[in-house]
Amino acid sequence: MQSSGRRGLPVLLLLALLVFAACSGTSAPSASKSPLSPTPTTTTTPEPEPEPDVPPAPRWAKIHQVDPAGLDHLDTYTLSDNKKRIHIVVPQLTGHDEFNEYLQNWANQQEDSFLENVDPIADSELDGGEAIIATPSLTATWVATGISPTMVGFYLESTESPGASTAVYSDTVWYDPTDGELIPWQNLITDDARSSLVEHVGAALEEQGIEFDEDELAAALGDDGSPAIGFTKDGNLYVGFDSYELIAGYYGNPGIEIELESASEFLTEEGNEAREASLSPDTADVPPTPVVPEPPEPEESSVDCSKEKCVALTFDDGPSSKNTPKLLDILAKEQVPVTFFVLGTQAKAFPDIVARAREEGHEIASHTWKHANLTSLSGKALNKDLADSNRAIKSALGSTPNLMRPPYGATNKDVSKAAKKAGLALVMWDIDTLDWQHRDAKKTVKHAKEATAGSIILMHDIHETTVEAAPKVIKSLRKEGFTFVTVSQLIGETEPGESYFRGPSNK
Ligand code: NI
Repeated sequence: MQSSGRRGLPVLLLLALLVFAACSGTSAPSASKSPLSPTPTTTTTPEPEPEPDVPPAPRWAKIHQVDPAGLDHLDTYTLSDNKKRIHIVVPQLTGHDEFNEYLQNWANQQEDSFLENVDPIADSELDGGEAIIATPSLTATWVATGISPTMVGFYLESTESPGASTAVYSDTVWYDPTDGELIPWQNLITDDARSSLVEHVGAALEEQGIEFDEDELAAALGDDGSPAIGFTKDGNLYVGFDSYELIAGYYGNPGIEIELESASEFLTEEGNEAREASLSPDTADVPPTPVVPEPPEPEESSVDCSKEKCVALTFDDGPSSKNTPKLLDILAKEQVPVTFFVLGTQAKAFPDIVARAREEGHEIASHTWKHANLTSLSGKALNKDLADSNRAIKSALGSTPNLMRPPYGATNKDVSKAAKKAGLALVMWDIDTLDWQHRDAKKTVKHAKEATAGSIILMHDIHETTVEAAPKVIKSLRKEGFTFVTVSQLIGETEPGESYFRGPSNK
């Protein structure tokens, strides 16, 4: 929900446009409306004649605010630095840890982006020997935009004043307090309606004679986009963008109202709950803590690896939509439990495969968010990477993993520290099949045969040749008297932040 990649502000050219920047903050309340039906028709708005030199004053919609009074466990988190002129306040809900952490991260990200944006300006100031711009500052604040026992929504707005201009970044966060899940904006709108959203926002901008780039608009409303999504006081859809995101900065941060002819068809079940929470807020019965459904316990194994000759097969980089289900079929047939070190991005894309693997008795662990070399990441980015990956797995399984394999086996003190913070032990391997390199099923089997009691074997379920090798790997190790176990069964209890390379070698 956080916009990625803010634009640096073109400081010099904005002086002339100051007057419009000032206007945009206090625009008229009347909002532009674009009628919206689930099956969109082509809009034929005539292009108004642009007035020479003077952009028309935009009319932006406002997101509906609700009164949070009565919400018992409401609290705030403040990130403040008087010296750097930063003051950020975000809402918190006592007892809702994941929600709170998400918003604290949001606050940190605002600070980071601000400091990135203003530092070069501060340097150029020194160059000229003269202060040519005002001291930059950042303020961020929030309003509640929906509250009900099953849905809570907040609108967040951060305002950067780097020198002469102002930029406003807006976000919304929707949250289900019953199960502790954050709800991405995409989940509020049906797929059909989402595909027509670009058209309707575009029409609303055109109606006001504002130029925009269609590709940028499509990206802003795409899977990686982060518009502020909520409702207006009339229950229509509110779509908000950042300053400079779509249109020239002097228009301010656009808020578009899209008339909902049929809210129930346009919105998903969660979307309708959010709208209800906005139109008829109910602060009384918001649960004090989320009730997270108990994840099904992985089947208790009676294997004792201090006595038996155990081996753990591990598969990294998946799930793959093509190969992982095939591997799962093989493992089910052979009755072999394994451990999958999944990427957060892949788990997010294919949660059903991750859930299936767990249901069939396999262990699910993290292989980080997107396979970055963790030793090249800094503190915050490192923590975020592991947290994002844990969140993706939790959203697929209902529980976070306690094991992690760093990509390339690359680790250092910072990585251990971050892993400890994320509750993850580091799992390496002692047998590398090099399946990713040779892509040869026979060679994969040959390397796997080097296993000894307690070995952890590294493979990758994204490769077809590895899936092809799996039945032969199982057969040959079984012949050697090995018992197949998950990594947790092999190692037993693990300590977050500690590294493990194999299990007990006694048999
Ligand atoms: Ni990997």
